Amino acid sequence: MAFTKKTVRDIDVDGKRVIMRVDFNVPLKDGVVTDDTRVRAAIPTIQYLKEHNAGIVLMSHLGRPKGDGPEPELSLKPAADKLAELTGYDVKFVDDTYGEAAAAAVAEVKPGDILVLENVRFLKAEKKNDPEVAKKLASYGDIFVLDAFGTAHRAQGSVVGPAAYIPAVAGFLLEKEVDTLTSIFAEPERPFVAIVGGSKVSSKIGVLDHLIDSADTLIIGGGMAYTFFLAQGYTVGTSLKEEDWVERAGEMLKKAEEKGVKILLPIDNVVSDHFGEDAEGEVVDSDKIPDDRMGMDIGPKTRELYTEAIKGAKTVFWNGPMGVFEFDQFAAGTEAVARAVADSDCTSIIGGGDSVAAINKFDLADKMSWISTGGGASMELVEGKALPGVEALLDA
Ligand code: 3PG
Repeated sequence: MAFTKKTVRDIDVDGKRVIMRVDFNVPLKDGVVTDDTRVRAAIPTIQYLKEHNAGIVLMSHLGRPKGDGPEPELSLKPAADKLAELTGYDVKFVDDTYGEAAAAAVAEVKPGDILVLENVRFLKAEKKNDPEVAKKLASYGDIFVLDAFGTAHRAQGSVVGPAAYIPAVAGFLLEKEVDTLTSIFAEPERPFVAIVGGSKVSSKIGVLDHLIDSADTLIIGGGMAYTFFLAQGYTVGTSLKEEDWVERAGEMLKKAEEKGVKILLPIDNVVSDHFGEDAEGEVVDSDKIPDDRMGMDIGPKTRELYTEAIKGAKTVFWNGPMGVFEFDQFAAGTEAVARAVADSDCTSIIGGGDSVAAINKFDLADKMSWISTGGGASMELVEGKALPGVEALLDA
């Protein structure tokens, strides 16, 4: 499916000042960026704009500040420094977003310059999509570029606002993300195997529903599997479960059966008597989980079953880990799935969030076709929802 909005390629940026919303919501430790994936992902558009003689004003949120003023530990300065380090460009930073200092710094931006504004969420009005915020940000540029795919599902001032006042187009990351995550469902090469894990059925119900409409096989793992077990009449001990969602999980299984979609659930599990780094695992079949044990990972027979299913796939979509992979003793299931995807010659699309952390932990990122930079945004897209940020852009 072609991207249906205008991009930076479709607009003359020469000599113009561009205000660009990026997603520099990156993890920090002691004021240093610990994962620069999102900064790297914004570089192609920044480079293009610079090479095409635009002055660039970058803005982003970082974390979830209260919105009552600056919170130094959530400053965007470390992200600006990271951008300078990665590109070798001179990147200026101003510790203001909507005030006089920001306006003065913006006025100094000449073609080829790059300025990063302070965290847009230091003001509550941003999250409320206040028109004053939108107007202010729009006044900083001649053109608005949205490249913040990870935030495109938020109808917030800096994401959707400027588009009401100045021409608004997409950056390359946004274009690629939307294109990849929608075309995989429109015309997947089959067999299409979808893998969904993570803790809750409730948070991924829309995704599961949509996947049953398009995948040939749906592999389920992680904490959410136990709610499906309940729907099948098994007991799950002290495993994570959502009693209120058992009926809905049962409906999903029925829908899959009616549509001829194969659902794979764990046949064995690694269980433990408590949740913790020191917890020890033992393997039990899915219909024999003791009352005082909780599921922590898929078991060895399930690893084999899932690996086999992934081996034959031509397209794989994966979101969510198979177990508590953060603890090494419960990481084997997630690692087996990650390796199976990496070893297969399928098109593999990784839908953001924890699965990305898992892939990085096993050092397999290079083996995947596309790893989304969006968590919530990629899930909404996969559910078939329109993203407000994308909707606000000019039609191609
Ligand atoms: C993300 O990390 O998913 C995006 O940056 C959006 O952040 P938010 O959930 O705080 O809006």
